[in-house]
This record gives sequence, structure tokens and C-alpha cells, in this order.
Amino acid sequence: MTSAVMMHIVDNVAVIEVDNPPVNALSFAVRSGLQTTLREAEHNEAVDAIVLSCRGNTFIAGADITEFGKPMQPPALPDLLSEMDTLTKPMVAALHGTALGGGLEVALTCHYRVALESAKVGLPEVLLGILPGAGGTQRLPRIAGVELALDMITSGRKVSSKEAAKAGLIDKVVSDDLQNAAIAFAKKVVNNKAPLRRISELTATVSDPAIFDQYRAKLAKTRRGFDAPQRCVDTVQASVELDFADGMKKERELFLELMQGTQSKSQRHMFFAERMAAQVQGLSKGTPTRDINSVAIIGAGTMGSGIAINFTNKGIPVTMLELSFEALERGIKHIHRYYDGQVAKGRISEEQAASAKQLVSGTDNYADLSDVDLVIEAVFESMAVKQDVFTKLDKYCKPGAILASNTSTLNVNTIASFTSRPQDVIGLHFFSPANIMRLLEVVRADSTADDVLATAMKLAKHINKVGVVSGVCDGFIGNRMLKGYGREAGALLLEGVSPARIDKALYDFGMAMGPLTMGDLAGLDVGYRVRKERRERGEYVPETDGAIADRLVEAGRLGQKAGKGYYRYEEGSRTPIPDPEVDAIIKEAMDALGCEPREIDDEEIVKRLIYPLINEAALILDEGIAQRPSDIDVVYIYGYGFPVYRGGPMFYADTVGLPAIVADMEQFQARYGDDWQVAPLLKTLAEQGRSFADLSSK
Ligand code: 3HC
Ligand code: NAI
Repeated sequence: MTSAVMMHIVDNVAVIEVDNPPVNALSFAVRSGLQTTLREAEHNEAVDAIVLSCRGNTFIAGADITEFGKPMQPPALPDLLSEMDTLTKPMVAALHGTALGGGLEVALTCHYRVALESAKVGLPEVLLGILPGAGGTQRLPRIAGVELALDMITSGRKVSSKEAAKAGLIDKVVSDDLQNAAIAFAKKVVNNKAPLRRISELTATVSDPAIFDQYRAKLAKTRRGFDAPQRCVDTVQASVELDFADGMKKERELFLELMQGTQSKSQRHMFFAERMAAQVQGLSKGTPTRDINSVAIIGAGTMGSGIAINFTNKGIPVTMLELSFEALERGIKHIHRYYDGQVAKGRISEEQAASAKQLVSGTDNYADLSDVDLVIEAVFESMAVKQDVFTKLDKYCKPGAILASNTSTLNVNTIASFTSRPQDVIGLHFFSPANIMRLLEVVRADSTADDVLATAMKLAKHINKVGVVSGVCDGFIGNRMLKGYGREAGALLLEGVSPARIDKALYDFGMAMGPLTMGDLAGLDVGYRVRKERRERGEYVPETDGAIADRLVEAGRLGQKAGKGYYRYEEGSRTPIPDPEVDAIIKEAMDALGCEPREIDDEEIVKRLIYPLINEAALILDEGIAQRPSDIDVVYIYGYGFPVYRGGPMFYADTVGLPAIVADMEQFQARYGDDWQVAPLLKTLAEQGRSFADLSSK
């Protein structure tokens, strides 16, 4: 027995309890404790049956991910479970919380499973770039059927006790007193002299073997570029085609292959990066937070109405303030349409939609905001307009209300200075569509109070966002990094690389979409206006900057909203179609600027776009704008469609090797000039043989 696993005997039933907070992961102490107690129970003549349960909030939530990549101290989980499968006394797992991964595999090796109504089970290994490696791929199809097993294993989806019971995966669902219910169940099995139900002795069958190829084809689209989902299908297919022992061998082989691959390392990095982002320098668990029970949103446009939905989804009332009744009505209609859509898709009931809609109200009067706990401003991106809004908020909002701006480029310190309470002002930078995108950049201004920051981070989690703290600078973390990305896309066009080739290279790298498709989606007029204003202010903007985008805008090609930009779009479609008119505009720009076409391969296209992201990120880290490299990875994966299987730009840089990146950048600098100057931090790390991961700190 170890302190992580205890055993006591109740009425001839050995109750083995795991106690390994926070999630009862299968760390070495748990594996060895389980081995010892199970052997004891097997050999103890006073024991007729075994109940396996957990203390704390959850049943075992899986293998201990912190032990991955290190030598495994025996017993390894598959060996422990093979031994369990030979035991001769009935074993009943008592499930509460989430029985996940290795936890569910332990439960599937027991002969029976009793679960609380609220419990969920799942095999989320695929989300870590691996597959269930302790029999999950062989046992789940044998007990729950190939269809459900394929669904659960390739998606990582958690299923409720009710659904699991329907599939035969759980034998009894109870509403409370779980441990006693499991003991009673075990005694009944003993009294009835029921045979042991070893899942390994069942057979997995499939009515139509074509299902495996259908899954492979579907996953090639929905999980494009990911290795693990395809290997998951291979192992489930093995459960049908091979006997249990050979199926287990196949599972082991593919598990180890995935575990050693870069994709899984990247996905495991993201698991911890996401949780690390919640840790904010200067704050502690004891930092107080403010209660947020009501929200006001200023501006009911694209962002304001999307932001509102995050709160109404959580039952928090929202007051929208607009300039005109028409604008208000448009914003509120957008929210109503969203809920109608949810009902049509069968995601919520009519009643739920009606009560969510009731949470939204509108006004044009700041006095109506006197009692709200949080205000989020999402008006036009103009400092004068923001000044007007924040001056009024300062006048009308109650002391202690948090005043946030959703600005994407403006200085939050300046915005805070429009109020007499800069400590209550913060940036909350949502991404469009604001009710869908998971990223929330939380902008800490110079005077932002600790409790305001702590409240924003807590709120982010509450509304299912991943909050990442950023300091104040132009574009914060994410948009600032895009500067070189966009610049190089434009430069490649001027070297004769077509929009479709640039986009395809980045798409194949794994980005959700290429830079020019993204430009068309966001609208080319935004950048056009910025460049025009900068030139009018007398700032130096190179002639090549936006040379093609500006010509497109002047030809009325504003992007998707105009049906044409870098591509053309058929009515009602978002599919980009290459357009000879654009080729002509590119040729005209190249001729005007005296640009020569050059043969450029896909590898160079990727380097030319991705390395500027990495370089800017190094500057951002040096300036303390981002707290740590992994926060930047979180920003790019949740906000910019960077492939999770590459772990984000910083993790990717480490996998390429910083010296190799610096060497390429120096070559680009020799060819293209000082836009390619290597950031001092990147250069130093490369010279010292260190990586971005070496900089990560709590
Ligand atoms: N190993 C190690 N640490 C883990 C862990 C695990 N499997 N799961 C969670 N943790 C840690 C988290 O890092 C976090 O640590 P921190 O407080 O220091 O940041 C802490 O536990 C709490 O986690 P969350 O913040 O995520 O807590 P929630 O209550 O929101 O969620 C959970 C709980 C649903 C269990 C969620 O943590 C989760 O999904 N965990 C991962 C489950 C998983 O992937 N299991 C499969 C592992 S792989 C495996 O089992 C291989 C096998 O097939 C051989
Ligand atoms: P939008 O033009 O769709 O909406 C702005 C709304 O604000 C309009 O409905 C307008 O009537 C209203 N408004 C303007 N001045 C007002 C005032 N003084 N008082 C009350 N309402 C006023 O703009 P969008 O795209 O929603 O952007 C809003 C803010 O969000 C901007 O600061 C923008 O930089 C930022 N943002 C935009 C993103 C995007 O992708 N569109 C992404 C992240 C941030």
C-alpha cells in the first residue's frame, strides 16, 4: 500500500481507493499501489470481490502526462492491466467525475462498472497526439461496439454515464452513494456466482468493414495533417481483425510510434501551455477577484454582439448601448438569430433560447449602466471615439466596475487615462467571431489593478475562453506578430509567386488558411486605410508595402465582402477561385516596381512567412509583452489557426532548431535587407545552444 492507494475490507469486499490529487492520474505511486493492493486482495481469503474507487473530485483521469517522455518506472500500465486481467475475484469500478484515458482503461479491465449519473467517460489520448495505450482500443470496441469506439477514440469525446450505459459500457448508473452501490453490486455478483466478465474474452464485430475507410477519409478532412486519428482507426480495426493478444501488440507498437513523434510532443506541450497561461506573474491564488453578475457592452456591431453571446450563454445579463436605435436593433437581432440557429441545430431547446434572449437589453443612455459590474467597449477603432466612451463610463459607472476595451490596436494606457480610475481599466481583446474563437488576449495596462486582472482571467475561463496576458504595444501579441507575415506574403507576390501557391504552402504547413485568403476574409480595405493614413501623416511606408493589396482595393477588390479580392468568389460562396484579373494586377505592380520573378519553392514560402512570426515573438518576449514563450503558442493556436500538431510558433522554432532559423534569416537579410534583422534574443539563444523552452517560467 502507498499513501496514493489504500485498501479496506467491507463485508468481504476489498475496497481499493486511489487518492492522488488533483485528478488521480496514474503516477508511479498509483500504479505500484494498485499492483500491491490488487495482489493482496487476490490472495486474501477473506476477500470475495474487489471495488476500485477514487477519492476527490474524479475517478482516475488518465496516465500521468508529466511522466511522458521519461523512462517509465515499472509497473507500466499495460503490464499492470494484463496482470489485473488474470485476477479471479470479481472487480467492480466505481466511477465518478471523469474516467479518462488510462483511467477508463483501468475501469474496462474490471469486470463491471457502476457510475454516478454525473460521471463521464472518454479516451482523450488522440487530443494529446497519441492513442489509448493500455488496451482501450481493444477493449472499448469489444464492450461498446466498433461504431461508438471509433467515435470516442478518434474524437476524444467524453460520453455521459447514460450514453455509456446504453452502449453496455457501464452496468449500473446511480444517483448517489456510489461506493456502497458498487459494494452491493459486487456482493450480488458473488452471491449469484456470476461468471467473471473479462472484456478481453469478448469478440469485436462490425457489420460493414467499409466503416474503417470511411472514418479514415472523414478524418483526413476534419483532422487534416494529424497522425494520431488515423492510427486510432488502425488499432480499432485490429480489434476486429486480430485476436486480443495480437491487437494489444499492434496498439503498443502504434502507441510508441506516436508517443515518440513530434506531433504528440507538440500537443502535450499545448496541454500544459494552456494551463500555464492561467498563471499570471505577480498574481497568486490568493489575489482577490470582483464579482461579475452583469455586463454592459458599448457598440453592438460585429464584435459587440458576438461578445454578448459569451455572457448570455452563461446566464449573465447584458445591456447593449448603441448610438442609434437601428444599430441596437441590428446587434440584438444578430444575437437572437444565433439562438434561433442553435435551436434549429437541436443544440438547445426553445425555452433555453427564450431565456437567453431575455438576458439581452438595449439602451442609448449611459445612466442605465450605473449598476453593471463589467463594461466592454467595442465601438469604432478611433481614439477620439474611445475617449468619448470612456469619459462617459467614468462618469456613470459605479465605483469598482471594471471598464474594458476590445481595441485591437490602440494604446490601453491612453484609454485608461481618459478615466479617473485607470486601475479599473483593462483590455479584453476578443477574436472574431467572438462567440466562437477561444482566445482572449487580456491586456494589462500600466495601472491595471491586480484584482481586475485576476477577475479577467477567471472570467475568461468561465466563458470557455483561454485567457493570455499581454502587455501594451501596437497589436498586442498576436496582431503585432502578423506584421512580417503579411509583409512577406506581399513580397512573395512581387517575386511572381501566385496567391494560390502562397496560400497552399501555408495550408499544407497546417495553417487553417493561407495569408491571402485570410486577407480576403478580414477585408483588404482595413490595411489600405492604415497605410494611406500613415503616408498622409508623412510616415515612411515603403512603396512595396501593400503594393498589390492597394491596387486591388483601388480596383474595388476589397475581399470576400465584395465578392473579389486576391481571389474571386461566386455568389454566396466562400471558396477562393484564382482570377486572371489579379494576375494582371500583380504583373502591373511588378512592372511598375521593376520586380523580377524568381523560382521559389514551398519550403522557402513557409520560412519567409513563419520565421518573421518567430522573430517578432522574440522581440515581444524581450520586451516583456508576453510572459513566456508558451503563451505565444497559445495565442497562435487559439487565435490564428496555427496547427496544434506543431505546438505553436515558439515550440515549432525549437523543433526546427534556432541556429538553423538564424542561418536562414541571415541569408534572407543579405538578399532582402534589414526587415530580416535577427532579434537579439533569438540570436543569443541560438549562439548559446538554448531554446525558447529554456525560457519558460511559471
Ligand atoms: N496527468 C498529469 N497532470 C494532469 C493530468 C494528467 N493526466 N490531467 C490533469 N492534470 C493536471 C493539470 O495539468 C492541472 O495542473 P495545474 O493545476 O498544475 O495546472 C490539474 O491537473 C488540474 O487540471 P485542469 O486544470 O485541467 O482541471 P479541470 O478540472 O478543468 O479538468 C480534467 C480536469 C477533465 C481531468 C482535465 O484535466 C483533463 O482533461 N485532463 C487530461 C485527461 C487526459 O488526457 N487523459 C489521458 C492521458 S493519456 C493516457 O491516459 C495514456 C494511456 O492511454 C496509456
Ligand atoms: P463594427 O463597426 O462592426 O461595430 C462598431 C459598433 O460601434 C457600431 O455598431 C457602431 O454603431 C457602434 N458605435 C460607434 N461609436 C459608438 C459610440 N460612441 N457609442 C456607442 N456605439 C458606438 O466594428 P467591430 O468590428 O465590431 O469592431 C469594434 C472594436 O473591436 C474595434 O475597436 C475593433 O478594433 C475591435 N476588434 C475588431 C475585430 C474584428 O475582427 N472585427 C477583432 C478584435 C477587435
